[in-house]
Amino acid sequence: MPGLRKQIFLGTFISSKSRQELQYLHDAAVCVDSHGKIVKVDVDCTSAELIDDRLLNKLGWEKSEVDVHVAKPGQFFFPGFIDSHVHAPQYPNVGIFGKTTLLDWLEKYTFPLESSLKDLAKARRVYTACIRRTLANGTTTAAYYATIDVDATNLLADLCLSLGQRALVGRVCMDNQDICLDYYRDESAEASLEKTLQTIQHVRDIDPSFELVSPILTPRFAPSCTSESMRGLAKIQRDMDLPVQTHISENKGEIALVAKMYPESSSYAAVYDDHGLLTPRTILAHAVHISEDEARLIAKRKSKVAHCPCSNSVLTSGAARVRWMWDRDITVGLGTDMGAGYSPSILEAARQTALVSRHVAMGIDEADPEHERSKLTIEEALYLGTRGGAAVVGLEGRVGGFEEGMEWDVQLIGLGDVNEEGFPADIDVDGGNVDMFGWESWEERIAKWVYNGDDRNTKKVWVKGRLVHSRR
Ligand code: GUN
Ligand code: FE
Repeated sequence: MPGLRKQIFLGTFISSKSRQELQYLHDAAVCVDSHGKIVKVDVDCTSAELIDDRLLNKLGWEKSEVDVHVAKPGQFFFPGFIDSHVHAPQYPNVGIFGKTTLLDWLEKYTFPLESSLKDLAKARRVYTACIRRTLANGTTTAAYYATIDVDATNLLADLCLSLGQRALVGRVCMDNQDICLDYYRDESAEASLEKTLQTIQHVRDIDPSFELVSPILTPRFAPSCTSESMRGLAKIQRDMDLPVQTHISENKGEIALVAKMYPESSSYAAVYDDHGLLTPRTILAHAVHISEDEARLIAKRKSKVAHCPCSNSVLTSGAARVRWMWDRDITVGLGTDMGAGYSPSILEAARQTALVSRHVAMGIDEADPEHERSKLTIEEALYLGTRGGAAVVGLEGRVGGFEEGMEWDVQLIGLGDVNEEGFPADIDVDGGNVDMFGWESWEERIAKWVYNGDDRNTKKVWVKGRLVHSRR
């Protein structure tokens, strides 16, 4: 990426210290070099003037080569969100699902739309809107499913790169002739693997070291693939050390179908494992109904789970048990799963994570300590959307916090303040639905943001130091 200027950000920085706890750095300065990397975090920087005297000398930077960004009072910097499971081609269908469940939803709404995006003009329009909208909601990294079409998938990778969103982009593998419909399937396992290699090569051509965009192997889900294509993808995974994404155990009908198709495997997770697809780089979406044995197998293989609460409610798939998976040492992140999920926002996914965990609790007897334990806190939900997601998509230690050495994938959040008369205190700040009365603690401000915030609160978004979204 050519010539970014050096940047220093001043203000309040909030990020996850652990699953349970947020860290609040006030009056801090975070210094970002011309590669978008955090090179210094200075925690006692009360004003822009101090930058001259201390910080620049320490860094050996000239004042003329640095841009300084000062957050307004009440605003804060927060790590960009990670969407660990999202279907870009389904974006036009958000909210359109009627009363369908997974398998009829795929046939009625999803496959017709996905197949129509072989029209590249249409794909460009849909993908551009999807990337812009998710960036505006603070998503700095997305693990995208595209379609079976190579050119449209490559276009999605091009657009992520040019619009500046960090992304994993997968061409969807669907070669099972018995299950997939005539109008939307790969011609054969061989053709499917060849097309996958074409997309990998394209991404290598546009971003040789996968700095911002990387390919991801994408067997849609076990029913859409043959044993041959799954084994072939597993071989590519081993040869090229690439990430993998697929769906698992979302819906009861789907699970029954997989059991019928693969009677020799002991479970849905075992189907993937038997084909070499359960790897430390594998992202499994949903995992609503996995058994103890499957959880043990997923943890043993160090595969990751994308929790998609919105989609799981929309398609009445069920309530995935995040605490239960954490207790079994499974790494979990959040996914919007658009277009089954109707919201482009990981903040919304965090909110729904908190709500769905309460539904999990309501299914457990109150006398059982698991009833209380299964409820997730705001801190835990935000962890899932940032550091948890980073671990799921293979970016742990690179994004998700403000440590030195990490990359500047960050959002600036502003909430609305109400003055003595009950009007917005600063007409320049659109606080959206979040009215602050001035007496809230920082913890309370964060709680109000999680439960009532939206893209109006996301003022600016950067990826790898580059400003990729700015409100108004
Ligand atoms: N299982 C297979 N394909 C899909 C999809 O596109 N969305 C969801 N939610 N589940 C799937
Ligand atoms: Fe999905």
